[in-house]
Amino acid sequence: MKSRATIHREFELARVDDRIYSAFIEHMGRAIYGGIYEPTHPTANEHGFRADVLHLVRELKIPLIRYPGGNFVSAYKWEDGIGPKDQRPVRLDLAWRSKETNQVGINEFASWAKEADIEMMLAVNLGTRGIEEARNFVEYCNHPKGSFWSDLRRSHGAEQPYDVGMWCLGNEMDGPWQIGHMEAKEYGRLADETSKAIKAFNKDIETVVCGSSNDQMKTYPEWERVVLQECYENVEYISLHKYFGNSRHDSLNFFSKIDETGRYIQTVAGIIDYVKAEKRAKNDVYICFDEWNVWYHNREQDHENVQNWDWPEAPALLEEDYNLEDALFVGGLLNEFIRRSDRVKIACIAQLVNVISPIRTLDGGPAWAATIYYPYQFASLYGRGTAMNVAVAGPTYDTEIAHDVNYLDISAVLSADENELTIFAINRSLEDEMEINVSLLGFERCQLLDHRVMGGNSKDARTSNTANEPNRIVPKQGGGLVVEEGILKGNLKPFSYNLIRITV
Ligand code: AHR
Repeated sequence: MKSRATIHREFELARVDDRIYSAFIEHMGRAIYGGIYEPTHPTANEHGFRADVLHLVRELKIPLIRYPGGNFVSAYKWEDGIGPKDQRPVRLDLAWRSKETNQVGINEFASWAKEADIEMMLAVNLGTRGIEEARNFVEYCNHPKGSFWSDLRRSHGAEQPYDVGMWCLGNEMDGPWQIGHMEAKEYGRLADETSKAIKAFNKDIETVVCGSSNDQMKTYPEWERVVLQECYENVEYISLHKYFGNSRHDSLNFFSKIDETGRYIQTVAGIIDYVKAEKRAKNDVYICFDEWNVWYHNREQDHENVQNWDWPEAPALLEEDYNLEDALFVGGLLNEFIRRSDRVKIACIAQLVNVISPIRTLDGGPAWAATIYYPYQFASLYGRGTAMNVAVAGPTYDTEIAHDVNYLDISAVLSADENELTIFAINRSLEDEMEINVSLLGFERCQLLDHRVMGGNSKDARTSNTANEPNRIVPKQGGGLVVEEGILKGNLKPFSYNLIRITV
């Protein structure tokens, strides 16, 4: 199999917003309790946070984290999580039928985010609550001092405001499963008014309105149009969510869902343009893809009869054992976000620890990186700068959901100092090596700096990393590629993810 590609120095797509490498964490399952927070763990610091998890998180260089939900936020009282820990109420979380002890609240989470060197993007509850709680939450977090909520925060030991600059207006409000689910028009109105109230504190705050929970929703894409018509001028982003799986064990079909996601982005971008034109608006609205990942488990698998649960604390929910194929998928979806850097400015892998996550833990035991950790890390470390246009000519295939899908999934980013071109390339073929020939036009003194490979054999497609064997599927030093006279050439192994760094 042979694929050719061309990258021209003058054909830039857009600046990559670093925030496409963001993450999401929810009060759900063992994400917070038993994930980032486990006071009895041997590595726990004085605040109860696991240092082993913090280490893995820091290595990802995550710019932004969305918190505290998810479906959880739609019935959450953030005030339950402030003040002395022994006085915080235990609540029943209706979204995940679990017990919420509130031992982690906004102040604990903010201190964790600071240690992890990540900015917070907070969601307000627009399911059971509304403008009043949102404005109180913003005042608690952001106002310096001299008001009821800001002084309360200071009395809780947080002298300095958190200056949270990004706020999400509820979660998946189009979903009938959402507590407080609404029709598009009523949600759009509430989002508009809530956003105005939040921005009354500081006009530079940016808000994210809920788009569709996925592109298979009956209300998609009408939801986006109606919601934006209500609030276009008062929001900066519209959120999209989508989760993926390969229950049919058809890898090529699985990978083509990335092309389908490209259409999802394109459609919503078109609706944004439509509403902007209709309103004669001056501002731009961008896409915040704030939940995405591979997801197989369902609640019945996690527990046979969820309805009979006795409201467990931090049950093991959606703990996926990601395999090589999932890693290739995650690398490919990140490629799509890079290719759509013009419209997608934020994207959050969902979630960060234990729940559909790149990082896993055992209670009292080790933390380890799942296969998907590595393509996410490589994109975050090396995918910053300017997304380049990559023209591809090579073999393609068709599936039920997409036509002319390239076997070569590729993106390229030129670093901000213009000294390094990074190529992320996936050979989707299960059996065949791929001979590549990538012309680097307009770049001078090109030299191969690094080549790392994950996979290379589709027999490993379903192999995962485990607590006992955390290094079964990890990146290895590559080989077989050269850069000669401005052309990157050589072979990509079958079913492989490749990080290729070139000095220019
Ligand atoms: O990430 C898990 C759940 O998926 C989130 O709570 C919800 O927003 C989505 O449906």
